[in-house]
Amino acid sequence: MSEISRVALITGCGKQDGIGAAIARRLAAAGCKLVVTDIEAEGARDRFEPDAGEGAASWRGVTTLVDEICCSGGSATCITGDISNVANVEEMVAQAIAAYGSIDILVNNAGAPFSMAHGNLDDIPIDEFERVMAINICGTFQMARKVAPYLRQQKWGRIVNIASVAGRVGSKLNSAYAASKAGVIALSQTWALELGPYGVTSNAVLPGFIFTNRSLSGMRKKLGGAELDQGAIEKMMPNVPVGRPGRAEDVASMVAFLASEEAGYVNGQSLIVDGGNLRL
Ligand SMILES: NC(=O)c1ccc[n+]([C@@H]2O[C@H](COP(=O)([O-])OP(=O)(O)OC[C@H]3O[C@@H](n4cnc5c(N)ncnc54)[C@H](O)[C@@H]3O)[C@@H](O)[C@H]2O)c1
Repeated sequence: MSEISRVALITGCGKQDGIGAAIARRLAAAGCKLVVTDIEAEGARDRFEPDAGEGAASWRGVTTLVDEICCSGGSATCITGDISNVANVEEMVAQAIAAYGSIDILVNNAGAPFSMAHGNLDDIPIDEFERVMAINICGTFQMARKVAPYLRQQKWGRIVNIASVAGRVGSKLNSAYAASKAGVIALSQTWALELGPYGVTSNAVLPGFIFTNRSLSGMRKKLGGAELDQGAIEKMMPNVPVGRPGRAEDVASMVAFLASEEAGYVNGQSLIVDGGNLRL
């Protein structure tokens, strides 16, 4: 694992089994100082989300994540804030700078809850559609806009945006989500052009099916809210060539590479992490 002695701000880290927490653990292990954030300490719970599994009772979201990282010898602090709210974004960036004096790596991982604006083209309430855009596109944009001046000034930086394969190939009953993730890919490419001359790279990571409570929410919604057993989960799993579901750690490894020194010539790319499901 290559050493990354940098300060990283990661959004959407409140869920114990979420991709954000996995990215935080991976970057901390690589040597980063971390600012982990979420809209509320334990993350916004989706209405179809099953109870988190083992260890859930003692999980206090980003607070527990910080304890975990610090107990392993790392350095981390947590902040709560809504990425769709400009004042909150300004406050989160100011607090991160106050804590560590700089931000070198921004990981835009936060995303709207699964069942928000989920449904058929004819049925999605427009206010939910707009809320997904406000979080996934405007929130990502605002975070980058407030962090970019620090990256530009120090002539080094990494922006990694967590998009989705849905942004490349669409996703049934997911108009808002797919459109927003296509927007995140376009933002990543645009910032590669705008920030590249300052030594700042900007890339998108496109996970396929990753086994988190978010994907379980999706399965439960398809079953009308019914409890999931192993059989139901296996039936609904996509047929992945590597023969196993994606793990949050698979996404975290890609983020760690893109955040490293070695990835300085990778810019404006969309890196798919889906076990070979799509071969684009
Ligand atoms: N799990 C998958 O299969 C999968 C696949 C493709 C892409 N993704 C993307 O990966 C990212 C992480 O997903 P996950 O599976 O860990 O599930 P998740 O939905 O639990 O994680 C998203 C996090 O974003 C936070 N968030 C929501 N609204 C916010 C706001 N307004 N401000 C700040 N934070 C907010 C939530 O509280 C949550 O902790 C998301 O962007 C998601 O779209 C996930």
